[in-house]
Amino acid sequence: MKILVTGGAGYIGSVVVEQLIEAGESVIVFDNLSQGHRAAVHPGAGFVKGDLSDRAEIDRALNEHRPDAVMHFASRTLVGESMERPFLYLGGNTRSGLNLFESMVEHGVKRIILSSTANLFDQPERMPIDESERIIPGSPYGESKFILERMLHWLDRIHAVRFASLRYFNAAGATPTRGEDHDPEIHLIPLVLQVAFGKREKVTIFGEDYPTRDGTCVRDYIHVVDLAQAHILALRALDHGSRLYNLGNGEGFTVKEVIDTAREVTGREIRANVGPRRRSRGACCDQRQDS
Ligand SMILES: NC(=O)c1ccc[n+]([C@@H]2O[C@H](COP(=O)([O-])OP(=O)(O)OC[C@H]3O[C@@H](n4cnc5c(N)ncnc54)[C@H](O)[C@@H]3O)[C@@H](O)[C@H]2O)c1
Repeated sequence: MKILVTGGAGYIGSVVVEQLIEAGESVIVFDNLSQGHRAAVHPGAGFVKGDLSDRAEIDRALNEHRPDAVMHFASRTLVGESMERPFLYLGGNTRSGLNLFESMVEHGVKRIILSSTANLFDQPERMPIDESERIIPGSPYGESKFILERMLHWLDRIHAVRFASLRYFNAAGATPTRGEDHDPEIHLIPLVLQVAFGKREKVTIFGEDYPTRDGTCVRDYIHVVDLAQAHILALRALDHGSRLYNLGNGEGFTVKEVIDTAREVTGREIRANVGPRRRSRGACCDQRQDS
């Protein structure tokens, strides 16, 4: 199969590209490098520097490469930023998705895997959160992913576009050659490791008065290689129809547990201080995710 991967120079996308190439697939990465890194793209993959906000750029890429399927990672990804600048998400993320989907339909590309998010579930009634849970997005970021899912629902019915939407909790981990490198970095595990490496003075814990076992936020983490495998399996399963999947590990860890584990593993002190709760995190943070 030939697969076009939007956002394939980013954290999760670059690991998925690596795994796709190792599985023998042919891959083209489409990325504007706003967050990603050219060096993170596997040398076996083709690369197009392009921006999804420009319809002509994605048209050109699909016309030239004629992929069998698309994996769509490219996105703004920050819950907090979306609470401050909602139009970047309600407008930007959805317009980019629409450009991609319209171009796919025009070029006869009928298979897509969408990176969605567990931020669709702001007020879950049951744990673990399964696919039957009521969707109440927790931010404009989550809402933008929900809008993309709904677009794909209609493209499935009208144009027979088969899709899988994967709603991930927090991605974590790396392969020996690829991992997480954002600027600015806001995800907990890389921040904690930056303190361990002496690149950052301390890490801030946002609130310790949550109703959790040690008062700090609980989050579910899924290893990025497991995520990559899930994408490959979801792509193969598209022949059986479109599907929605929630992807987590089923077990949450508190912020303090993550910091303590990093201290144990690295043998470093890792300074931490406690700050106020973050606005975008809402009243309760059980199973809440960053992006
Ligand atoms: N990291 C997580 O824990 C997590 C959790 C849930 C969902 N997700 C979703 O997974 C996807 C990948 O996340 P990530 O952490 O790897 O993010 P990332 O920022 O590392 O990667 C996104 C990539 O998309 C590119 N990009 C952004 N806007 C673009 C545009 N308009 N045109 C072309 N390229 C563009 C960036 O340069 C970057 O390489 C995102 O869609 C995100 O919403 C991530």
